[in-house]
Amino acid sequence: MSKTIGVLTSGGDAPGMNAAVRAVARAAIRKGFKVLGIRRGYNGLINGDMIELTERSVSDIIQRGGTILYTARCPEFRYEEGLQKAKKQCIEAGLNGIVVIGGDGSFRGAADLSARGIPCVGLPGTIDNDIACTEYTIGYDTAMNTAMEMVDKLRDTAQSHDRCSVVEVMGRNAGYIAVNTGVAVGATYIITKEVPYSIDEVCNKMLQTRKTGKQHFIIVVAEGIGNSVEIAKQIEEKTGIESRATILGHVQRGGSPTVRDRVVASQMGYYAVELLEKGIGNRVVGMKDNKIVDFDIQEALKMKKPFEIDLYNIAQEISF
Ligand code: ADP
Ligand code: F6P
Repeated sequence: MSKTIGVLTSGGDAPGMNAAVRAVARAAIRKGFKVLGIRRGYNGLINGDMIELTERSVSDIIQRGGTILYTARCPEFRYEEGLQKAKKQCIEAGLNGIVVIGGDGSFRGAADLSARGIPCVGLPGTIDNDIACTEYTIGYDTAMNTAMEMVDKLRDTAQSHDRCSVVEVMGRNAGYIAVNTGVAVGATYIITKEVPYSIDEVCNKMLQTRKTGKQHFIIVVAEGIGNSVEIAKQIEEKTGIESRATILGHVQRGGSPTVRDRVVASQMGYYAVELLEKGIGNRVVGMKDNKIVDFDIQEALKMKKPFEIDLYNIAQEISF
C-alpha cells in the first residue's frame, strides 16, 4: 500500500513557507511517500483541492516568498461538519498524515483533525514569532530584515529634514519584531504593548537628546499599539519637532527568505516528516536552545512566551 502525506500552509503567509514545503516534499519523497500539496489551507482539505508534489515541482521555490500552495483562513474548519468533510477527503486521498505550516490558529485545527484520526504535525510559520512553544518561527528573520531596511530608508529622509519618523511594524499583539527592529535601527524609543509608556516620556527623551545635538529621531511602534498616526501628531504638538508616521504593513510579509528562514524551514520540514513516518501526530515542531524539538499541540498552546525585556532595556539605555 502506498503511503501518502499532505502539506498545507494556513493563516498569514511568511517568507520561508516555500522552503518548508520543499523540505517536507523532498524528505517525504526520499522516504518513499507520495506527497500531496493541499491548496489554500484547510479550504483545500475540505474541497479536495490537492496537487501531487514531485521532486521537480518543488524546484526553484526555496528562494521565493509567499507560498506556492496559497494560504487562507477557513472558518468552516472550526466546526464539526467542516472537520468531518476534511476527514472524508483525507481518507479518499489516502493521506496518512499532514504537515500544517501556520500559527496557533492553524495548530488548533491540526489538533482537531488529529483527534479525528488524521495525524497532523504543525510547523511554526508566522513573521510575528508569537508562538509560545518555539524560540523561532519561520518568516521572522526575513520580516525583521525587511523592516530594518525600510527604517534605514526612512532615516535618510528624517535626517535630511530634521524630523521624527514614527514607524509602525507588524506583530499583531506581540512586540518581538518591534524590539528587535528597534535595536537594529537604533530607535530613540520603542513602543510596545508589553511595556507601559507615556507620550510625555517619549517626548522628554527626544528633547533631552536634542540638547546633545540629536536632530532626527526614529520611534518604532508595535502594531498592537494601534495608533501610530496619532502618536506622531502628539509628538509634533508636544515637542515642536515635525513628525511623520509610516505604517510598514504587508511589505514585511513578502520577499525572498533570509538564510536563517531557509535553514530553519528546511530543518523543521525534515523533522516533521520524521514524526509522521513514525505515525506520530498531534505534535508541533519548535526550536529550543537552538535545537529542533516537538511538543504535544495542546501543551504547546498552553505555553507562555516571555517578552525580551532585557533586550528592550538595553535598547532604551543605549539610544540617546
Ligand atoms: P494562524 O494559524 O496564523 O494563527 P488563524 O488564527 O487565522 O491563523 O487560523 C488559521 C486557520 O486555522 C483558520 O482559518 C481555521 O481554518 C483554523 N483554525 C483556527 N482556530 C481554530 C480552532 N479553534 N479550531 C479549528 N480550526 C481552527
Ligand atoms: O500574523 C502575521 C500578521 O502579518 C500580523 O503581524 C498582522 O497583524 C496580521 O498578520 C495581518 O493579517 P492580514 O494579512 O489578514 O491583514
